[in-house]
Amino acid sequence: MGSLTVRNLSEEIKKRLRLRAAASGRSMEEEVRLLLAEGAADVPDRAQSRARPAPGSAKPPAAAAARQILLIVSGGIAAYKSLDLIRRLRERGYEVRVVMTKAAQEFVTPLSVGAIAGEKPFTDLFDQHSEFDVGHIRLARDNDLIVVAPATADIMARMANGHADDLAAAVLLATNKKILLAPAMNPAMWSNKATQRNLKTLIADGVLTVGPNAGEMAESGEAGSGRMAEPLEIVAAIEKYLADHPSVAGTAEPAHTPLAGKHIVITAGPTHEPIDPVRYIANRSSGKQGYAIARAAADAGAKVTLVSGPVALPDPPGVKTVRVQTARDMLVAVQAALPASVGIFAAAVADWRTAGDVVQKLKKDASGPPRLELVENPDILAFIAKLKTRRPQLVIGFAAETEKVVEHAKAKLKRKGCDWIVANDVSAEGGAMGGDDNAVHLITAGGAESWPSQSKDGVARQLVARIAVALNGAPR
Ligand code: CTP
Repeated sequence: MGSLTVRNLSEEIKKRLRLRAAASGRSMEEEVRLLLAEGAADVPDRAQSRARPAPGSAKPPAAAAARQILLIVSGGIAAYKSLDLIRRLRERGYEVRVVMTKAAQEFVTPLSVGAIAGEKPFTDLFDQHSEFDVGHIRLARDNDLIVVAPATADIMARMANGHADDLAAAVLLATNKKILLAPAMNPAMWSNKATQRNLKTLIADGVLTVGPNAGEMAESGEAGSGRMAEPLEIVAAIEKYLADHPSVAGTAEPAHTPLAGKHIVITAGPTHEPIDPVRYIANRSSGKQGYAIARAAADAGAKVTLVSGPVALPDPPGVKTVRVQTARDMLVAVQAALPASVGIFAAAVADWRTAGDVVQKLKKDASGPPRLELVENPDILAFIAKLKTRRPQLVIGFAAETEKVVEHAKAKLKRKGCDWIVANDVSAEGGAMGGDDNAVHLITAGGAESWPSQSKDGVARQLVARIAVALNGAPR
C-alpha cells in the first residue's frame, strides 16, 4: 500500500471512494484495501482484510488480530525505541498507524517509521493529502487505543492544557479512545513540579501511564527516573488494557489467557506465631495484595495455589487456597504445592516465633511479666529461591520497607536470591498496609522501575502482565 496512495487515483475514483467511505464510516484508504481484498480469491471476508501481519511474521495471535493502535511519537531521544515498539506490535498482529510530531522527526525519520509500520506516518495537521485521506478526527477515533511513546514533558503539558496546535495534540484532544502515555524525559524534567502537576491532571482525566523507569538515560552522564518503559513493557500495558476492555475493539475477543498451563504459587497475609494457646505475634498485613495477584493470575488462565495466613478475605474463585497459621506451616504448604512456574511471596511472614511450645495460658503472677525468648522463623522466599531442584522459573519476593525503599529492596533481592522484588512503602504515610491502593517499585536484575500509585488489583494485573511477558521468553 505504501506506493498506492489515494491521492494518485483519478478524481472520479476518488469521488466514488469518498462516497463509499462516507457510507461505511471507514477511511478511503481502508476502502481501497477492502476492494483489493474482495478482489483476491483467497480472502474470504472483510473482517480478515483488516489484519495486516508484518511481512514474514508468524500468523498473529487470535487475541491481537485486527486491533488498531495509533502510536504518537513525540520528540525525545527515546523515539528510537518506538521503532522497536512498532515492530513488536506488528509481530503480534496489531495494525499500527503512526503520528509523528515535528520534533520526533529530528530523532527518527518518517521514512524509517513508515518502513516498519507498513504505512507512511502522519505528520501535519494541515497536510491537504493526509487530511483528505484520513483526517485528524478519524485518526483520533479509528483505533482501539492511542499510545504516546515517547511522551515528552512538552506533549504532556500540551495535553493537560487542551492544546491542539499540531496534528498529535489535535488528535489527542479529539479522541474518544483511551490514551496510554509512556513518558520519557530528563529526570529533572520528570520530577519538576509542573510535569508532576500535568501528570496528576492527565491521570485524573483518565489517561493511563506506563513507566518511566529509573536508570541510566540515553544522554550521557544522566541517571534517575525518566527513562521510557521498554517496548515490551509498553506492549504488556497495551495488551493488559485491551484484555480488560474487549469491547473497545470492533470484534469480540476470546478470553486473554497468557498464563494458561502455568502453575503459580502465591503466599499472602500475615502469619500468627503463638505465644501461648490464646496469644500470638502478628502484623498488620491484610492479605489484599496477595489475594489480588491470585485473582489476576487465575483470570490470566494460570492454575493458582494461594497459601494464606489468617486474613478476613474469602477464597478467590478458581484458586486453590490453603489456609495456614504459622511461618513453618506456610513453608510446608508451599513446598507441597511445588512444582510451579512462578512463586510469588507476598506474605508478611513473622520473622520470629517464641522458642518452645507453651501449652497452657501464661498467667500473671508475682514474678512479673514473662520473658519471651524469640527464635528466627524459616525464610520461605529465600528457601525456595535457593532450591537446587524444583525452583520455580521465576521467584518474586515482596519488600515491605518504611524508608530507603528501593535501596533496601535491591539489597533484599541479592540476599534472598530471588529474580524480582516488588517493593512497597509500608510506613504510615505510605498507607499500603491494609489500604486498597499501592505504589510499588519493581526491582529486577535490569534495575528499578516505579509504578504509579494504583489499586492493589491494578498492581496485580500489571505484575501478571509482566510475568506473562517474562515467561514468554522476554528478558527478565
Ligand atoms: N519472607 C519469607 N519468609 C520470612 C520472611 C520474609 O518468605 N520468614 C518473604 C516475604 O514474603 C517477602 C520477602 O521475604 O516476599 C521480604 O519480606 P520483608 O518482611 O520485607 O523482609 P525481611 O526478610 O523480613 O527483612 P527485613 O525485616 O530486614 O526488612
